Amino acid sequence: MRVLIEVANRARQHAHAPYSRYRVGSALLAESGNVYSGVNVENASYGLAICSERTAYVKAISEGERDFIAIAVVTDNGGSPCGACRQFMSEFGLDTIVIQADARGHYTLTTVGALLPDAFTPDKLAKRR
Ligand code: THU
Repeated sequence: MRVLIEVANRARQHAHAPYSRYRVGSALLAESGNVYSGVNVENASYGLAICSERTAYVKAISEGERDFIAIAVVTDNGGSPCGACRQFMSEFGLDTIVIQADARGHYTLTTVGALLPDAFTPDKLAKRR
């Protein structure tokens, strides 16, 4: 827990957030034991911003990971993952633990499933008629 928060917090220094100045760092622990960090990456075309959680997932997925234990997300004020990230994370498991931490290391625990009740998951497509 502490290690993941520390990795996420360290990653924050690499956030590219010149427009919002809201720096977000993530650290995603895969079942393999590997940890993937992520940061938010903003753009002069504001709508193109990518959140830190999705950066971490995309890095992990592109390295062949599919199963995840936990993700730590660190912001100045302990902010919670946005709706788009909740949906994105739900694709890879509702039981993944989400550690929401602030810059001082205070944190709360939840899960992807708790953050996104009645999620639209891959099995929903399998059940279509
Ligand atoms: N942001 C994240 O990185 N993760 C979230 O879940 C919430 C929002 C980023 C996007 C943008 O760069 C900045 O925080 C302000 O919205």
